Amino acid sequence: MLIKRPDEFKVSEITPEAVFLNRREFMAAGGVAAAGLAVGRLDGWTVGHEPSNRLSAQPSQQDDPQTPFQAVTTYNNFYEFGTDKSEPAKNAGTLKPRPWTVKVEGMAAKPGDYNIEDILKWFPAKEYVYRHRCVEAWSMVIPWYGFPLRDFINRFEPSPKAKFVEFTTLMDPKQMPGQRDLVLDWPYVEGLRMDEAMNPLTLFAVGIYQKPLLNQNGAPIRLVIPWKYGFKGIKSIVKVRFVETQPLNTWQLAAPSEYSFYANVNPAVDHPRWSQARERRVGEFLKRPTLPFNGFGEQVAAMYKGMDPRTLY
Ligand code: MTE
Repeated sequence: MLIKRPDEFKVSEITPEAVFLNRREFMAAGGVAAAGLAVGRLDGWTVGHEPSNRLSAQPSQQDDPQTPFQAVTTYNNFYEFGTDKSEPAKNAGTLKPRPWTVKVEGMAAKPGDYNIEDILKWFPAKEYVYRHRCVEAWSMVIPWYGFPLRDFINRFEPSPKAKFVEFTTLMDPKQMPGQRDLVLDWPYVEGLRMDEAMNPLTLFAVGIYQKPLLNQNGAPIRLVIPWKYGFKGIKSIVKVRFVETQPLNTWQLAAPSEYSFYANVNPAVDHPRWSQARERRVGEFLKRPTLPFNGFGEQVAAMYKGMDPRTLY
């Protein structure tokens, strides 16, 4: 099984002090070249000055320090660019996030091919500060820029028969050389139940730290579901499909005894090979307790009432 055990990461690789590089410094540091992000691609970027929309589960946690930009952009899981945490930042320069089309398919009144520039115009992004809890028991606090997935969904008028939404990452081994290795069944696929997709916490993210997503974080558009383990947050999405039956997601396909469809954060249910009770915030030494639903229980627990809890994690 591929997802590494928590004790296999070198958390010390991550700069511990708060390093926030603004865009100019970041470009000067060569980050733009490494990420394959041309300056011209920032044109049309409209999100920087939207009012902040800080959502966090508990007031005491709203002030959690945000994970430094450098850590968020150099410690990644994006197997299309390698299985080591440092590889996506080094290798994702081959991904071309423009031009980019998101195909909307399946049970909806307005299927079609939609240009990312139009998507950015239709859905102005705002800042959402969420904790990001990986199934590998590390976490970050990330100021995402994005918009509620439900706004996107409503525009395409899904049929009431559509009970799930399936998302697919780009399939192109030239741009994503890791797809030449059969470590996963490509392309990466994820799914949400319709009510999960329509929950106001669920985002389509297009940026972090007031900048467009770097390639390694899933440019130009990715999913963020803050009460679920990070692997549900599929990156570099090219297809959204409205379907009647529950889709199989990539990690469930790869290791059904270890990963499920729902993947809701639950400290009480261990991963078969490690505990989920605690998590290491990237850049910190001591572990902290993991919260049920990553702290968003009040907003989301009702969706799972009456379900067998064993199927949910
Ligand atoms: N999406 C694709 N297409 N490929 C991946 O390998 N990894 C997932 C998720 N989305 C992954 C993906 C996992 S395991 C995690 S924890 C998050 O992305 C990591 O997001 P980050 O690198 O922005 O922190």
